[in-house]
Amino acid sequence: MRTIKYTNQVSLVFPSRSANEAFARSAAAAFAAQLDPTLDELGDVKTAVSEAVTNAIVHAYPDIIGKVELKLRIYPGNELELIIRDWGVGIPDIDQARTPLYTTGSEERSGMGFTIMESFMDSVKVKSVAGKGTTVTLRKRFALRAGGKV
Ligand SMILES: Nc1ncnc2c1ncn2[C@@H]1O[C@H](COP(=O)(O)OP(=O)(O)O)[C@@H](O)[C@H]1O
Ligand SMILES: [Mg+2]
Repeated sequence: MRTIKYTNQVSLVFPSRSANEAFARSAAAAFAAQLDPTLDELGDVKTAVSEAVTNAIVHAYPDIIGKVELKLRIYPGNELELIIRDWGVGIPDIDQARTPLYTTGSEERSGMGFTIMESFMDSVKVKSVAGKGTTVTLRKRFALRAGGKV
């Protein structure tokens, strides 16, 4: 658990429809804009959130439309936290799921989603309970630039 209090937060809840992946990606980038990111940094956030939300849409609810939550938080020190939560099927073996190229999906899935999140974020935490759902927590610290706010 974090003891430092976040200084800003938004929470978005949406159904696991594929159209909402682009919405979540853009919303995360819009929220992150207050950290004065570079375009590269924004691209990293968009890519990572896109992978996590796509997983909630595709894997958590394979046959139904379920609820997905995206929480965006800012912590002192220019740190962004993104929490992607679903109440879907859960992940039976998290270490296995995080292994590069591992997928339970169909052929168009690369099995690289978690690996991509890890490469673009400073940290990736996954909590999951089979039958109850999954929470993915992504964190990234942004460089402080002249003129930027904390
Ligand atoms: N939110 C989730 N709910 C249930 N299973 C998930 C979730 N996210 C990931 N997984 C499982 O982890 C595997 C690996 O995910 P990922 O690395 O993104 O690769 P891919 O999505 O291409 O399969 C998925 O194939 C799926 O079995
Ligand atoms: Mg994936």
